[in-house]
Amino acid sequence: MHIPVLQKEVIQYLDPKPNENFIDATFGQGGHTALILRENKPKGKVLGIDIDPAQIENAKLRTSNIELKNRLILVNDSYANLKNIVEEHNFKPINGILFDLGISSQHLEESGRGFSFQKDELLDMRYDKNQKHLTAENIINEWPEKEIEQILKEYGEERFSRKIAQEIIQARKKNPIKSTFQLVEIIKRSTPSWYQKKRIHSATKTFQALRITVNDELETIKQGLTKALDILEKEGRLVIISFHSLEDRIVKNFLKEKAKQGLIKIQTKKPIKPCFEEIKTNKRSRSAKLRAGIRI
Ligand SMILES: C[S@@+](CC[C@H](N)C(=O)[O-])C[C@H]1O[C@@H](n2cnc3c(N)ncnc32)[C@H](O)[C@@H]1O
Repeated sequence: MHIPVLQKEVIQYLDPKPNENFIDATFGQGGHTALILRENKPKGKVLGIDIDPAQIENAKLRTSNIELKNRLILVNDSYANLKNIVEEHNFKPINGILFDLGISSQHLEESGRGFSFQKDELLDMRYDKNQKHLTAENIINEWPEKEIEQILKEYGEERFSRKIAQEIIQARKKNPIKSTFQLVEIIKRSTPSWYQKKRIHSATKTFQALRITVNDELETIKQGLTKALDILEKEGRLVIISFHSLEDRIVKNFLKEKAKQGLIKIQTKKPIKPCFEEIKTNKRSRSAKLRAGIRI
């Protein structure tokens, strides 16, 4: 079960009013969408987008309520295509857009696509198997050592990137590396024992780097944010939740640059973080950071 993060804060900054329209650019299991739909009644709509076809299919099965069906439009696509999506669905005016970046708990717990180092699954990591061909398995078994080291360093900020890349190359000479647990073992062999005793699992950064590379996440976020600002009404609200420093840096710089250009007024001088109580009940929220702006 995916618990939406920063629920109160999302509603505070998105500020939905009756009959306004919103885009949930990362629909997931629709937790944030449900909160918005409660506030923008009776005629306000939500356009929910998710790149993972399974998320959209599951949501369609869950929404049998007719009233909801009229107010909720579901689209399986990437938010990189926001502009085309809203044109296709003639969705306007747009009073607010939410991005809740990254993976959902469903991906980690149920997708079977190798997102989690705690489950023994094939190394896939694609959000959408129909659109993308590159998998984590391809990277691990086919890419040159230097390129693997580079993505671990850049997208994982992994301090042992060189050693892990070296061990991957040694291991794959003997047998193809197909599963998450094989990779976890390689990471354990490549890193000192103190690294394995840290609060953050020693495989976290490598898995993050692979997921970002497979789904071209950072570039896509830049595209999505630019398009979002293009389609937002004046006074429209943009709310973004990120989960690691690379994402947050992109969001922060984007808002700063657009504020400089006079296109947006930043609402969050510092990123908003979950309170202690939220982190206690939803561990996943601990790294969440929310930033928001209003279109001028
Ligand atoms: C953290 S979850 C969102 C959870 C959601 N807010 C909820 O309350 O259930 C992020 C979602 O974004 C989706 N996603 C990732 N990249 C995307 C992209 N480029 N375009 C659209 N959705 C994307 C993932 O498939 C995932 O379902």
